[in-house]
Amino acid sequence: MPKPKVLVTRKLTGPVEDRLAGDYDVVLNPSDRPMTASDLAAAMRSYDALVPTVSDQLNSSCLNVDGRRVRMIANVGVGYSNIDIDTARDVGIVVSNTPDVLTDATADIAMMLILAASRGAYAAEAKLREGRWAGFSVVDDLGTGIQDKVLGIVGMGRIGRATARRAAMGFGMRIVFYNRSSAEDLDFEAERLGSIDAVMSQADVVSIHVPGGGANPLITAKHIAGMKPSAYLVNTARGDSVDQAALIEALAEGRIAGAGLDVFENEPSVPDALRRLRNVTLLPHIGSATEEVRTAMGMLAADNLDAFFAGENLPSRVV
Ligand code: DGY
Repeated sequence: MPKPKVLVTRKLTGPVEDRLAGDYDVVLNPSDRPMTASDLAAAMRSYDALVPTVSDQLNSSCLNVDGRRVRMIANVGVGYSNIDIDTARDVGIVVSNTPDVLTDATADIAMMLILAASRGAYAAEAKLREGRWAGFSVVDDLGTGIQDKVLGIVGMGRIGRATARRAAMGFGMRIVFYNRSSAEDLDFEAERLGSIDAVMSQADVVSIHVPGGGANPLITAKHIAGMKPSAYLVNTARGDSVDQAALIEALAEGRIAGAGLDVFENEPSVPDALRRLRNVTLLPHIGSATEEVRTAMGMLAADNLDAFFAGENLPSRVV
C-alpha cells in the first residue's frame, strides 16, 4: 500500500519532521513561508491529510473545494479557530488538535504578562534601552503589587486553571472566574461569578482563556468599559476574543491601566496605535513556544494522524 500523502504547512521541529518523513509520503515546508489561500485550496485536492497550524485559514470554501482529497486535518495547536469546524463536520473531514501538552507553557506566559503589565515592564525597559534612565529612584517606575489582588479568569478550561493556580498558589492572588459550565475539582480557592461583566468589574487583572473564532468578540467595548481604571487585561488565547479597537482606545485614554497581549486580531498585523502604547507588553504569539512543547505538539499531531490511518480512536479528536 502506498503511504498516505501528507502536507505539513509550516516548519515543525526536527524530531517531528523526521518522524513524519519516515511514516508518510510527506511534503514539508523548509522555508516556513505561510501558505496562501490558493496554496491551501490546491493542497486540499492533492493530499490525504494536512498538518496545518494556527496561521492557516481553512475556511468553508477551502474545505468545500471541488475535487477534495483531504480526509484528515491534524492541527498543530490546541486552538482550532483557524478551521471551520462546522464545515469539516458537514463534509466528513476528521480534525484533531493538540491539548494538554502546551497548558503549562501557555499559563507561564499568561503569568509573565500579568507581572509585566502590573509592573510596567515594557515602559521601564524602553526607558533603559533608549538611554532615558537617570539612575535609581524611590518614586519612579512604580507598578502595582498583585498579592491579595483579584485575578478574573474568563474561561476556566485547562489553561485558565493553570494560570489561576499559579496566581493563587504562587502569588497570593484571589481568583474570580466566569465559565459557562461549573468548573469542578479546582485545587485552589476560586469564586465563580454569574457573568463576564461581574468578572470584568471586580478584577484587578483579567486574563482571557476562551477559544475565539466567534463571529463577534466575546469581550466587548462594554465589558472593557466596566473594568476598573486601575485594572489590567491579559490575553494569551485568541485576538478575536477581545474587541481590539475598543481595548486600544481604553488603553490610550487611560481608562484601564495596561495590558499584556500575546495574540492579536489579524496576526501578524499589529496596529501602530497599539505598538506605540507604553502601558502594554506585546509578544508575538509565543504562549506554547518552547522547544519541548512545540515538539510535543507536533508528536501529538503525528499520533492523531497515525491513529486516523490505522482506523483507531484519535488521542485528541475535535470532529
Ligand atoms: C494554540 O495551540 O492554539 C496556540 O495558540 C499556538 O500554540
